[in-house]
Amino acid sequence: MCSLPYSQACENNKGPILDVLSRVFVSCRDVLEMASGTGQHATWFSAQMPFLQWQPTEMAQHIEILKPRCSQYSGANLLPPKALDVSDRPWPVEAIPDALFSANSLHIMPWSSVEALFGELGDRARANTLLVIYGPFNYGGQYTAPSNARFDQRLAQQSPVSAIRDFEKVDALASNAGFELREDIEMPANNRLLVWRKD
Ligand SMILES: C[S@@+](CC[C@H](N)C(=O)[O-])C[C@H]1O[C@@H](n2cnc3c(N)ncnc32)[C@H](O)[C@@H]1O
Repeated sequence: MCSLPYSQACENNKGPILDVLSRVFVSCRDVLEMASGTGQHATWFSAQMPFLQWQPTEMAQHIEILKPRCSQYSGANLLPPKALDVSDRPWPVEAIPDALFSANSLHIMPWSSVEALFGELGDRARANTLLVIYGPFNYGGQYTAPSNARFDQRLAQQSPVSAIRDFEKVDALASNAGFELREDIEMPANNRLLVWRKD
């Protein structure tokens, strides 16, 4: 069997993220995951939360990385991966589902894409839609740990559009889109898990 695309970070963070998602998504049915990467989160969360129907998505140019692991998933609650670039609006979905999740993506995509993501959700998400974002964030213009400062330097070397985002700026976009911050949870390895609900 060929080895599947693999992220060690996903393996490390999937348990702690599941602990929160299994509580926060307990009354949800449909989840759209943005920037699903290798599909490790999509397959693990689908298996652990069979009450959810999980839609993994990726940018078209990276979707072949996502497909192999998803195609090995044997349950019925993981939908086939769909191409989605969050900056291409309107998104190619009939409706925004009742929950959205993304890990480690806001610091990779350009800020204009972060703005587009919240713009789309502001226009199309219904009341009570949950948005859960996992990753590193700065607070008050400061890194939360020296390791995050080093990580940000590496991001800048890899791409000038990538950077650890300021929590306050992201929360302002969310607020403009009608989303209220419900939880801001400290996670291992200096990451955060942010939960917003649309009013
Ligand atoms: C560091 S990876 C994270 C992947 C996965 N969520 C994880 O936690 O391992 C960042 C992902 O963001 C995706 N991405 C970047 N810009 C995007 C955009 N505009 N729309 C959707 N996905 C995007 C990349 O293709 C990549 O898979």
